Amino acid sequence: MPDLHQRSIEIIHAGQFDGAYAACLSFSQYGYCWLRDGMWIAHGMDVVGQSTSARAFHQWAARTLLRYRDKAEGLLAKLTKGEGLTEADYLPTRFELDGRIGQEDWPDFQLDGYGAWLWGLVQFIQAHGDDDLWQEARPAVALLVRYLEALWRSPNYDCWEEHRHHIHPATLAALYGGLCAVQSLSPELVPGGLPETIRDFVLTNAVASDGHFMKYLGNDEVDASLLWLALPYKLVDIHDHRFLKTLAKIEQDIYRPGEGVYRYRADTYYGGGQWLLLTLWLAWAYLELDQPTKAQNLISWVEAQASVTGEMPEQVAGHLLAPAYYDQWVERWGTSASPLLWSHGMYLLLKSLLKDSLT
Ligand code: BGC
Repeated sequence: MPDLHQRSIEIIHAGQFDGAYAACLSFSQYGYCWLRDGMWIAHGMDVVGQSTSARAFHQWAARTLLRYRDKAEGLLAKLTKGEGLTEADYLPTRFELDGRIGQEDWPDFQLDGYGAWLWGLVQFIQAHGDDDLWQEARPAVALLVRYLEALWRSPNYDCWEEHRHHIHPATLAALYGGLCAVQSLSPELVPGGLPETIRDFVLTNAVASDGHFMKYLGNDEVDASLLWLALPYKLVDIHDHRFLKTLAKIEQDIYRPGEGVYRYRADTYYGGGQWLLLTLWLAWAYLELDQPTKAQNLISWVEAQASVTGEMPEQVAGHLLAPAYYDQWVERWGTSASPLLWSHGMYLLLKSLLKDSLT
């Protein structure tokens, strides 16, 4: 087995073009750069010393977003005038690698990636004291804050690009985390009380009767992305009783002991397999809860899923939740994505966090 740390770095470099990271070049649908995936890939690269790559991503994202300033301003103007919005009015969820908006029909109205990017950008700037990057990115950040302020209450697609007409706590956590991060750098950019209003909204509306956070408002199931509420976005502390109940339900309902983590119980995408990046997220929670052995076991399981050439897939098909759906996805788009750069980025991050926890 190749050195997975080194291979992850190589694979990520091979998928980066002028700053943009392609989600997975070998998968027909993933030749784009998503802000959600890109931020985590950049963060993983940064923590292992590949800061030039991470910086190039943030610069690309800031420049790309500014290209669509008129589009965002157009949407804000429509809202001010009380006009209705169409799906085409929203900023996209993913971009071509040269920053153009993809022509394919795709569910674009997804806000979590914007919150994620704000969070990751600020981590990078603070870690490196990179004021030049901040000056360059500031206009894009200011625009996004206004965009998010206007839209955060609107139902929008979740991080899995599903459930357009619902409100997702994981999305709101990303917005909360991103806005708090911006506030810590430039308080004047964020309207006073906005992050707290978002947090209170989640705490008031997104806790199920038995005390765990819900997948979306009105759906009491859990989704592994609920881990984001604490990690990294800190909408709640990891020891918060509602978070611990959520974690327990994730372990109970969507974790296969000794193996990996599913997205959510009703998942049918590629038959609903176990996702590497979510397994790494659970490992992160265990590290934060001072349970490094459990974290190490999950990371080892992830490593065992890599191909002989060290490529990590998005998900694995060993124990599918909905096997009857598997073939139709393969017929439609080919075998599931691998190597997925987001899996590799999370792997770099978790190996680094594990090492820190042991020293
Ligand atoms: C996932 C998204 C991800 C995209 C690219 C989709 O299948 O649901 O979360 O951003 O793939 O990796």
